Amino acid sequence: MIKPQIPLLLISFFTLLIMLPKSTSARLHPRRDGTPPSSSSGGGDGKFCLSWRLGVEANNVVAWGTVPRECQEEVESYMIDGQYEEDLDLVMQQIFSFLNSIPLSFDSFDAWVLDVDDTCLSNLYYYKTKRFGCEPYDPVGFRAWASKGGSPAISPVLQLFNKLLEKGFKVFLVTGRDQETLGQATINNLHNQGFIGYQRLILRSGEYKGQSAVRYKSDIRQKLEKEGYRIWGNVGDQWSDLRGNSTGNRTFKLPNPMYFVP
Ligand SMILES: *[C@@H]1O[C@H](CO)[C@@H](O)[C@H](O)[C@H]1NC(C)=O
Ligand SMILES: *[C@@H]1O[C@H](CO)[C@@H](O)[C@H](O)[C@H]1NC(C)=O
Ligand SMILES: [Mg+2]
Repeated sequence: MIKPQIPLLLISFFTLLIMLPKSTSARLHPRRDGTPPSSSSGGGDGKFCLSWRLGVEANNVVAWGTVPRECQEEVESYMIDGQYEEDLDLVMQQIFSFLNSIPLSFDSFDAWVLDVDDTCLSNLYYYKTKRFGCEPYDPVGFRAWASKGGSPAISPVLQLFNKLLEKGFKVFLVTGRDQETLGQATINNLHNQGFIGYQRLILRSGEYKGQSAVRYKSDIRQKLEKEGYRIWGNVGDQWSDLRGNSTGNRTFKLPNPMYFVP
């Protein structure tokens, strides 16, 4: 009667011993599928870089100059391996459900504001040459890139743009790009990518040169409201597109872990 219980006890004891280190390692690597964090984050300090990216998107990390060197692979992988598109799609779903709840007046004053760089047009190819934001902002290099007018559309935003026009919104494109040096190239680029039919493209000029994006864009939106427009939605990849005055009834932040505009 006693004999068979001893091996049973021994087995339970050894099972415990075997399981202990397992549960410890499970706590060190809490990913549900069991793969180590570095394999999904493109190497480097994966967990730190995910936290850094969340901090950037949530506007907890501000006024940063460059992507931390150890996060280049994480940012690159985020931008080109599909998660960026996935995140954009989720924002679009939220925008579309908000759109359907808006009581339109059909008086030509229901308005929507879109930013241009990395909202309508993608500068990903340019930032690839800048190690996905690990290199400091290069105004000369960026101007050379932008003046070619070859930035591709961010296609979910182009779809949104067309949906807004179809619904009867007046769409205002508000950009920090300089009117004199980049005006024509920007118009050409928007048109060659299918952004046709917007109400106005507003570029930075005159008194706004040298002002922060928050000040400049707030002022532009305030002027639109003074003209009678109701800004229902405002979409941008920078918090400076979305903060300040006359921000619109809803703001939508698109992901951008590659640079920060104050
Ligand atoms: C917002 O409006 C207030 C009052 O007009 C003004 O003092 C403030 O500077 C504005 N803020 C920005 C960011 O433009
Ligand atoms: C939208 O925002 C404007 C300006 O802040 C406000 O007056 C209006 O009540 C808001 N409308 C809705 C439906 O939230
Ligand atoms: Mg932008």
